[in-house]
Amino acid sequence: MKATPPKTTANVNLNQAREARKDEFYTRLHDIETELRHYEKQFKGKVVYCNCDDPRISNFFHYFSYKFEPLGLKKLMTTCYKNQNPDMFSQHQAEKAIYIEYKADANGKLIPYPDYMKLITGEYKGGKDENNVLELKEIGIGHLEGDGDFRKPECIELLKQADIVVTNPPFSLFREYVAQLIEHGKKFLILGDQNAVTYKEIFRFIKENKVWLGMNNGGTKWFEVKDYYDIKTESRKKIENGKKYFSAGKINWFTNMDTAKRHENLLLYKTYKGNETDYPKYDNYDAIEVSKTKDIPTDYRGVMGVPVTFFDKYNPEQFELVGMAEDNGRGYSGGIWQGGSIKCLVNGEAKFKRLFIKHRM
Ligand SMILES: C[S@@+](CC[C@H](N)C(=O)[O-])C[C@H]1O[C@@H](n2cnc3c(N)ncnc32)[C@H](O)[C@@H]1O
Repeated sequence: MKATPPKTTANVNLNQAREARKDEFYTRLHDIETELRHYEKQFKGKVVYCNCDDPRISNFFHYFSYKFEPLGLKKLMTTCYKNQNPDMFSQHQAEKAIYIEYKADANGKLIPYPDYMKLITGEYKGGKDENNVLELKEIGIGHLEGDGDFRKPECIELLKQADIVVTNPPFSLFREYVAQLIEHGKKFLILGDQNAVTYKEIFRFIKENKVWLGMNNGGTKWFEVKDYYDIKTESRKKIENGKKYFSAGKINWFTNMDTAKRHENLLLYKTYKGNETDYPKYDNYDAIEVSKTKDIPTDYRGVMGVPVTFFDKYNPEQFELVGMAEDNGRGYSGGIWQGGSIKCLVNGEAKFKRLFIKHRM
């Protein structure tokens, strides 16, 4: 038998670097605009912080810099992780992160800077000193002392100044990222994997009404990636206008900002009475199986198991969130697990992960 090689520091570093590279995909302006238009009024007079965003690449930064005056922002702060060289495209080679700040003057007008889009597309020629080299200091970019990790004290100091954080954070650090925002009492609108709703740390926040979903969830969202980005599944890859895109699966917006959707009642038309066989009871949870959100019966008063996509329709005034499946004795199910398999079973057959809900009376 082959011995497993010991975990060396070099191996650990290599794995971390590999994980970090997987997080390097960039949100399209289209997806940002489609979501952000629902919250415009909530940004008036606010300080926005994009804390996982290279201002030369991030469309979050572009969106807020272009919409600075129409939204009535007070300040926009952007920091990125490690990289400072535009050619490196956030590949983490440089240890010091960059920081950029846009401010409104006394009349609410943006204190002007050169056109960033031109800088990125290469149309911008020449710095202010006409040496044809655009220096960072000329466009108001400064450096942080450290690497821009959102958990570092200097980034936390910036976070404290912010009212709203908007970004697509590293998915590999999603739990910590959300916990930090909540700990500091910040409003936020961020992207994350659909399955994050079932991470026990995130689910707890949803249950406590501290996090919910935004307006445009699920579906395929495409993210720009660099050529080196390895995409194994063909259906998750596309090239458009010479740019490479990756579909990271089903992606949701997570927020604690008010949305119209959250107050809308889900329209239901099915009944349990007379259709009991369509809603079998689980072998091991005290609830009935409802395999599609649209089929939630209007007249069932007990606990119902629904797919995780239910969260997209969740109005806490209409439904009580009881728990989720895959309880392992730690009480995630809200006390309805009866032991045995942690999967929801119907006649011995395991169902996909379920959430447990109840109608509010
Ligand atoms: C999914 S990408 C999204 C980038 C950008 N926010 C966007 O939407 O286009 C996540 C970004 O988080 C950055 N990142 C990774 N670890 C980080 C950390 N500890 N602190 C801050 N940013 C981090 C990565 O460099 C990466 O660019």
